[in-house]
Amino acid sequence: MRALARRRLPRPIFDYIDGGADDEVTLRRNAAAFAQYELVPDVLNDVSRIRTGTTLFGERIAWPLMLAPTGLTRMFHGHAELAVARAAARHDLLYSLSTLGTTRLEALAETFGGPKVFQIYIFKDRGLTTEFVARCKEAGFHGLALTVDTPVAGNRERDRVNGLSLPPRLTLKSMLSFALHPRWSLPALTGSRFDLANVSHKVDALAAGPMSLFDYIGGQFDRAVTWRDVEWLAAEWGGPLAIKGVMTPEDAKRAIGSGATGVMISNHGGRQLDGAPAPIDQIGLVRDAIGEGPDVICDGGVRRGSDVVKALALGATACSIGRPYLYGLAAAGEAGVNRALSLLFEEFERTLILAGVNDITQLGCRHIRRLNELWC
Ligand code: FNR
Repeated sequence: MRALARRRLPRPIFDYIDGGADDEVTLRRNAAAFAQYELVPDVLNDVSRIRTGTTLFGERIAWPLMLAPTGLTRMFHGHAELAVARAAARHDLLYSLSTLGTTRLEALAETFGGPKVFQIYIFKDRGLTTEFVARCKEAGFHGLALTVDTPVAGNRERDRVNGLSLPPRLTLKSMLSFALHPRWSLPALTGSRFDLANVSHKVDALAAGPMSLFDYIGGQFDRAVTWRDVEWLAAEWGGPLAIKGVMTPEDAKRAIGSGATGVMISNHGGRQLDGAPAPIDQIGLVRDAIGEGPDVICDGGVRRGSDVVKALALGATACSIGRPYLYGLAAAGEAGVNRALSLLFEEFERTLILAGVNDITQLGCRHIRRLNELWC
């Protein structure tokens, strides 16, 4: 899927999906860390039927996977978020829409009847956050994911080199890459206007131009946000709320203490703090700290269905994926996302069968071992 996406997209757009912050150490480690765990199978356990269903953000889903929020999706395929949500619906999975998405949350809710989460920020203008909460309630979203790892944008050097900065400073090489991908570039030039659909009403986008919309939203990120703001948001929303970007057991405890119902262990797919640990390595610590009840979602580096089995064995409720479905979307729209989700599910189920586990609730620490470390 990644190879197909790379062929389909102009290089600066592919790099925007594929890249991470600084030296991309965390980006690489997120995926590589899964290989540091061994799966230890049971045998002769009747695996003729495998139970994979679970509950996430209070909603039933077919297996423990959610589609992470990703901004600017229309850049990757003209059918944007709706294509992704339709594929999620076909697989009975949970979809999350980014604040920086390119489809209005109301339009998404109309098309997509499945479980849906809105990814929110606490903006300088608390009124904008309050407005999102009210709109999400009205549209029937089931949960919120509050992203907290983005007080400033990470240093994405591929984007800088490509000139995919704000404002864009496209190099000759980048422009050539757009010209060499007319299948992407022509619809992008002539298709529906690229828009941060959920916030564009805040700026008279037509008069001020799209760049001032980015300026507006960029200026809304608030470095002064604290746990008190989480308490405020939890009370305002009153429903399932996950804090996205928690890495430590201490912060996971604070999140639950502040009114969240779960945490997404995440370093934003290696796009923010380079050097941050891999989410898979933090699951056990976080689960021990907050006990059995809250959702613990391992977000980042999942590239195989077996990775999800490992995360569950370590104590996660579910995993979430960003790039794996975005590569599919870029490669072939809805069909590509569908294919990515099918491949992951087949791998997940096959891994459970081979590990002798017929019900995901039975997965536990005896099924997993870190290389060269003592067993639990
Ligand atoms: C993201 N991510 C993200 N997260 C978020 O909270 N709000 C956002 O708008 C975005 N936008 C975004 C765009 C792109 C192109 C990517 C690749 C990622 C992070 C995302 O939700 C998730 O944390 C990571 O993608 C997980 O890592 P993997 O699955 O990509 O390895």
